[in-house]
This record gives sequence, C-alpha cells and structure tokens, in this order.
Amino acid sequence: MSGAASPIRSTESVRNTIVAIDGPAGAGKSTLARHLARHFGLLNLESGAMYRAFALKALRAAVPLDESGALEHLTTETTIRLEPGDEENRVLLDGEDVTGFLRNPSVTDAASRVSVFPAIRTWMVGLQQKLGAQGGIVMEGRDIGTVVFPDAPVKIFLDAAPEVRGQRRFEQLGLSNSAYELQPGSGTPSDRPMSPAREEILRELRARDERDRNRADSPLRPAPDAVLLDSTGMTLEEAVRAAIAIVAARLAPS
Ligand code: DC
Repeated sequence: MSGAASPIRSTESVRNTIVAIDGPAGAGKSTLARHLARHFGLLNLESGAMYRAFALKALRAAVPLDESGALEHLTTETTIRLEPGDEENRVLLDGEDVTGFLRNPSVTDAASRVSVFPAIRTWMVGLQQKLGAQGGIVMEGRDIGTVVFPDAPVKIFLDAAPEVRGQRRFEQLGLSNSAYELQPGSGTPSDRPMSPAREEILRELRARDERDRNRADSPLRPAPDAVLLDSTGMTLEEAVRAAIAIVAARLAPS
C-alpha cells in the first residue's frame, strides 16, 4: 500500500499516540487499522478478537450465551492475550493459540451476543486499557473512542452502507478479487471457505448492527470528537489514504 508520506511520522506524538477506530461490522476497520499501524509504526490491536476469544470459551464450556451471571463467572477463569503480528493479532485463550477459530460463523454470532452484557464489557474494557496503556497503538472496535480510550487524540468512525458491507463480506468469504477485498491474496480458491448466500450474510450483518447499536451498555456510536469516514464509494486505497490524512492532521503540531 502506498500511502501519502507523513511529515510527522517519527515524532514523539506519533510514537505514544492512541488511534481509536470504531464502526459497524464489515466496514473494513481491521484492514484500515493494519495499514495505519504499519504506516505510522504503531501496534495494531483488534478488540473484537478478544470478544471472539471469550465467545469461543463460552461455546466450549457450553455456557448459555444469554446467561449473564454464568458468563461473568467464566471471566474469572479466563485469560486472553493479544500478540501483535504483521497481518493480524495472535490470540491466546488460556495460553492456547485460538486465532484460527475466531472467524468461524458460530463464534462470530456468539461474540455479538456475549458482548451486550455490562459485566463482560467492563472486564474487556479493563483488559484493553491495560493493553494500550503505553500508547503507540491503533485499536479498533465498537467503543474504543467512547469508552476504552475516551481521551485518544485520534478517533475515526469508519462506516459504510449495510449493502456495501454485506457485499464486501461476501466477496471476502467467496472467490472474488474485489478492489476492496479485505485480505488480498489470502489463500487460493480451493482452500477458502464456500461462500454463503449473500442474503444470509446481509441478514447476519444487520442482526449484529442491531445488537451493537441498541445495547444499553456502550452502544456503537461515534464519539463526539471522532472524524467520520464513510467508505461506501471508496476503494481500499482511497480509504487508507483518507485515514492516513486524518491521523496526520490530528497529530500535526498546531
Ligand atoms: O470487530 P469484530 O467483528 O471482530 O467483533 C466481534 C464482536 O465483538 C462484535 O459482534 C461486537 C463485539 N465488539 C464489541 O462489542 N466491542 C468492541 N470494542 C469490539 C467488538
């Protein structure tokens, strides 16, 4: 990815900064976060991966996903660690590398369900604040700019129309080489998963949107000081370029 060169790239303000990226499922946050982290020399931390790891634990332990108390108890016997990697974080659940399990549709659905409970969110927010306490990070999720790091100097709210997000997700899971393919070059057609029906993906995405936006505890919303970036009509390159410009402008000495 060729990004615009940033004149403030190696200054102290960049090294210690926190870039918060929030937005709905399928907006392209992970890809954007990865490119921004690479461009500015920051650590990329995916908070959604932590919710996914906990959801996997709940599924394995056969804890009902609507039982807040039982889920809360499960947190007391769970450790989750993120190890930053080039492409994505390695996620360690109780010491086991579970990265390969986290995109499974049942885990995706379970993560969306367990994340509505305040006790789970409080626990996660604490873990995430500890992870990012030193700064020098890009963290993406749903509540990073509003709850986890409300004082983050740079906040981006990345959005796109639901149909566009659904289409991108469809192409990501399928065989397409869309301009906005989220993981370019990942795997060959024969080792990629079968593409589920477009309608099913869109339905699932809308259900997750609904939960994210309407839960009582820290619903998905842009922080008042977030810069809105709507990538509906953008290619990946354009969205990354726009995000780099936003970060550079926020960090530029005034
Ligand atoms: O970003 P993702 O799709 O990997 O997130 C998985 C789920 O976790 C998603 O359904 C919403 C939830 N989540 C959240 O509630 N807060 C975050 N900061 C990150 C993710």
